Amino acid sequence: EPLTVNFTLNGKATSLQVAPNAVLLDVLREQLQLGGTKKGCDHGQCGACTVHVDGQAMNSCLRLAAMCEGQHVTTVEGLSRDGELHPVQQSFLECDAFQCGYCTPGQMMSASALLADERIGTDDASVKEAMSGNICRCGAYKNILEAIQQARL
Ligand code: FES
Repeated sequence: EPLTVNFTLNGKATSLQVAPNAVLLDVLREQLQLGGTKKGCDHGQCGACTVHVDGQAMNSCLRLAAMCEGQHVTTVEGLSRDGELHPVQQSFLECDAFQCGYCTPGQMMSASALLADERIGTDDASVKEAMSGNICRCGAYKNILEAIQQARL
């Protein structure tokens, strides 16, 4: 029996029918055609599927879409505003903070959430800790860290 879920997606009121067991990741990619959010492990281990739910970075592969009722969901497609790249997008480009790019949307969603979170320290160790759920198989970690610190400036 499908459920109706109403939420705000990238700033837009959205209402759709979802299967009760559908995870947000699949709903975004398959029902809403938003392919920027990537499926890596599908088990909460890699961070490729990271989105913001009410401003918090979250693995969308672990979250039931039906639980997003009334919430604000932002995907990488919603990160830029008014045609301007988000500072994190700009700095990832400038710092070459990717190789294959598959993990990049998730990296940027985690990075933008951590930069907005005053509870997280600004030193490299705190940033690394906050980013530890986002795996990069190419090993671009050094440039990713550099990009995050640059976006803070
Ligand atoms: Fe969700 Fe890997 S696809 S954490």
